[in-house]
Amino acid sequence: MRLVRGLLAAMFRLSPLLILLGLGLSGCGNDSITDSPPIAQDTALTVDDFETATSCQSCHPDQFEQWSGSMHAYALKDPTFAALREIGQSAYINALDGACIQCHSIVARETGALPWGPYDFDALPPQVQEGVGCDVCHVVSGIRSLSNADLIFSPGATKFGTIPDPVPNVAHESEFNSLYSSSEYCGSCHDLVTGDGLQLEAVFREWRAGGFAVTGKTCNDCHMPAYQGSATPGGPVRTLHDHSMVGADLALIPFPNQARQHQLVTDMLRSALTVEADVPLTVAAGDTIDLQVRLINDLTGHNVPSGVPFIRQMWIAIEIMDGTNLIYTTGDLDANGDLKDENSAFAERDEDLFNAQGTMFRADSVKTGLTWEARYLDNPSIVAGETRPVDYRIPIPPGATGPLRVELKLRFRSFPHYVIRGLGQDALLPIPIIDMWEDSRTVAIL
Ligand code: HEC
Ligand code: HEC
Ligand code: HEC
Ligand code: HEC
Ligand code: HEC
Repeated sequence: MRLVRGLLAAMFRLSPLLILLGLGLSGCGNDSITDSPPIAQDTALTVDDFETATSCQSCHPDQFEQWSGSMHAYALKDPTFAALREIGQSAYINALDGACIQCHSIVARETGALPWGPYDFDALPPQVQEGVGCDVCHVVSGIRSLSNADLIFSPGATKFGTIPDPVPNVAHESEFNSLYSSSEYCGSCHDLVTGDGLQLEAVFREWRAGGFAVTGKTCNDCHMPAYQGSATPGGPVRTLHDHSMVGADLALIPFPNQARQHQLVTDMLRSALTVEADVPLTVAAGDTIDLQVRLINDLTGHNVPSGVPFIRQMWIAIEIMDGTNLIYTTGDLDANGDLKDENSAFAERDEDLFNAQGTMFRADSVKTGLTWEARYLDNPSIVAGETRPVDYRIPIPPGATGPLRVELKLRFRSFPHYVIRGLGQDALLPIPIIDMWEDSRTVAIL
């Protein structure tokens, strides 16, 4: 194992954290996932048992339009996914595959349609390219367990949903199934447990442990907001559910409805936390400003960030100006666009940095980027219901004249730059930063 890691690091010049990403999401490798279904070539399903999203488009144009710009449509097209999978495949001599595709392309998993070596994306059948497509989600007839996509897929004439009295149509049977309004349905794909029982992705479990499970606010209430319309042209007006499935992530390649998705993600992130700041009104020159920012997770039913917390960055940026002089800064970026922490290629360190990104550790408490070594995830993300105070004690120069302008921001991005560079995907840079909150205060010098 050490040899593989050394080889990988040498070949790809990856930081350990990056190798984690390549191999880690699945907890795959020699000690593979146990809490997962077999890679289901034995189900005797073929790709043609699943229908393409375009075959639904004419009768469900709105759902199609919304889905086509979503991360579900992006799941296999995602260039970071492709790059990471390829790294994992070369480390494991193509034996990794089932672990990665089991959530990112159910059709490939259920049918064995994705070659276990490098593949030509354009040559894959559309049902595989579509990642989490319509006919994957709408043929789920049950759940086996609550992680690793352990759903029961029953492709065929019947599409399941939550319309109790569907109008009959020539294309398919329709059947009401209450599973489709439950959080468990989403949770099975969204939670990932490694073979060692490490919970690497836990959005469902976070939600279940938080208060929103008790009040009955489900994933769909926030991620598939209801609106009135027709499920099919000319059909009855009913309550429908938005399939854009907005979260925190953005497509990094040209993608349908990109501007709309960017706006929706921005709105989502800006409504994720309540943020408060205590900044004094006055300070004596040469003294310190004692400043507190509070991140309150009273709006999101799960941790913020969530999903893949070991790559999501959510950090506090503060700038203090005395006239035109910048006298203090934290949360600013280095020349590579990285935060000034241990992952920066430069020596300068941002001692006050608050960043809610997670880190992994081995059994012997040594930091690692390798999930198969990882036995513990240090996850500083903000738990549902939590109030996180972040304190700063900022020295003000004796010569400061004031008034000081204090600019505060809570910033988010889906990927750190060092990860993207390590993947050799520099063309995707820069990763957009979304400001979740900002405020501006004035402090008088006494
Ligand atoms: C990630 C899973 C997922 C994907 C992908 C998905 N759906 Fe859905 N769909 C759902 C769920 C869940 C509901 C019910 C939501 C509820 O009741 O809260 C639903 C509801 C529907 C409905 C009923 C009307 C409505 O809007 O509630 C139709 C029709 C539908 N989907 C068609 C499609 C089509 C067509 C596609 C592909 C273009 C698609 N779905 C992709 C999960 C999915
Ligand atoms: C020939 C038109 C047509 C095609 C093609 C079609 N549907 Fe439908 N579908 C309908 C109609 C009509 C309804 C009922 C709408 C209503 O009652 O408001 C429906 C309802 C649904 C429902 C809701 C079922 C329920 O009981 O909640 C789902 C889910 C669904 N379709 C998925 C799909 C998917 C996935 C595809 C593509 C694989 C597809 N449909 C293709 C016409 C079609
Ligand atoms: C009360 C509203 C609410 C509920 C309930 C909710 N979410 Fe979220 N979700 C959000 C918000 C706001 C964000 C953006 C902040 C963040 O990334 O955590 C988000 C982000 C996400 C992300 C992206 C996380 C990241 O940081 O990359 C995923 C995946 C997700 N939600 C899935 C789910 C699932 C699955 C459920 C149900 C088990 C669920 N959510 C329940 C509001 C909600
Ligand atoms: C068949 C597996 C599967 C099911 C079922 C599923 N998802 Fe997903 N979902 C994924 C995958 C895989 C991605 C990530 C794609 C990527 O970014 O590469 C994703 C992405 C998302 C995102 C975007 C995350 C972000 O960071 O922005 C949200 C939000 C989301 N799903 C919500 C839901 C909700 C709500 C449900 C239930 C109605 C659901 N998902 C059901 C597999 C699934
Ligand atoms: C249990 C299902 C599951 C498995 C197995 C899985 N993933 Fe994922 N993956 C997801 C979900 C769900 C998300 C979205 C989480 C979010 O956005 O918060 C995701 C997100 C990602 C992302 C971030 C995508 C983005 O654009 O932000 C990458 C990269 C990724 N996965 C790669 C992999 C690789 C490589 C493997 C195999 C080693 C793998 N995944 C195995 C479910 C899975």
